[in-house]
Amino acid sequence: MKLNIAVLPGDGIGPEVTKQSIKVLKAIAQEFDHTFRFKEAPVGAIAIDKTGESLPEKTLDLCKSTDAILFGAIGDPKYDNNPSAKVRPEQGLLKLRKELGLFANIRPVKAYNNLLSKSPLKREIIKGTDISIYRELTGGIYFGKKELSEDKNTASDLCEYSRFEIERITHLAFKAARTRKNKVTLVDKANVLESSRLWRRVVTEVSKNYTDVKLDFLFVDNAAMQMILNPKQFDVILTENMFGDIISDEASVIGGSIGLLASASVGEKYAMFEPIHGSYPQATNLGIANPIASILSAAMLLDHFELFEEAELIREGVEISLKLNITTPDLNTKYDHISTSKVGDFIEDFINNPKDTTMN
Ligand code: IPM
Ligand code: MN
Repeated sequence: MKLNIAVLPGDGIGPEVTKQSIKVLKAIAQEFDHTFRFKEAPVGAIAIDKTGESLPEKTLDLCKSTDAILFGAIGDPKYDNNPSAKVRPEQGLLKLRKELGLFANIRPVKAYNNLLSKSPLKREIIKGTDISIYRELTGGIYFGKKELSEDKNTASDLCEYSRFEIERITHLAFKAARTRKNKVTLVDKANVLESSRLWRRVVTEVSKNYTDVKLDFLFVDNAAMQMILNPKQFDVILTENMFGDIISDEASVIGGSIGLLASASVGEKYAMFEPIHGSYPQATNLGIANPIASILSAAMLLDHFELFEEAELIREGVEISLKLNITTPDLNTKYDHISTSKVGDFIEDFINNPKDTTMN
């Protein structure tokens, strides 16, 4: 298969981790006779420094002309504590999602057996957890009308959803549940919010097309508690934009490190793959950033093009690296010198020669 992939490394540790997933994708291309072409473009704080914009037109054009996008991370502390900054790195990511119509953000959360002790949660609570979060990504409070009064003392952000926006992600979530444990949990705040009541109504209607899938409802506050008390109860979680943002960071604690969580953002036409972690500026260029989230995002990219065997090989490599403690310091108490690129090298070697690496 021939694929043109836009690479948007972004800020902080973005470039280092993305480099590892490119390495891994190149190894896959070689082993399976695919042609993957990579073209890089700036986004985020780095792009603001270069062009004054967080998503330059050229970067957006590149994304629109390629088959898939591999995204690194975005954000820089110089903007975080400056509420009056007009141009912010995050705007680049939000604009990218909106312009490309990436309405569904899929975030798998899994407890790896040999990382159970890394989570602050008890082993018996998290063992066996396997969740797929379907977060709506182009609507809700993130994109609703924003207002600041003239005297700057009153501000508002509108949370708006239309039936159409809810329906399209709901179908994806139910289809996914069919390939998993046939359960969808809608997370909302229908006891308070009108937009959540619309979600309940529409999701209930759509669910009639999937009578083999069980539909559950949870208020988001309760869902946040259940995620810690009994995460195994979840299969597919379906939720709106901001609840999904919060619940998925919370869920990352189950895996033992936020550096493990990958995601796919898909729409009608385009697809982007990115770790859920941020730019972790303190770690930039120290070689300590965990590249697994980015590498697993590359595996999701392959899944998207139905290259399942290839994606599986990456996941196997990741599992073996975790088993053998070939991990960055966030997960490693045994060795403190395994760098971002060493992890990438190990998975690359595994792909080039799966048998040799497992025997080591
Ligand atoms: C994420 C991030 C983004 C979000 C930020 C960087 C805008 O936290 O992808 O989860 O809130 O969606
Ligand atoms: Mn987030």
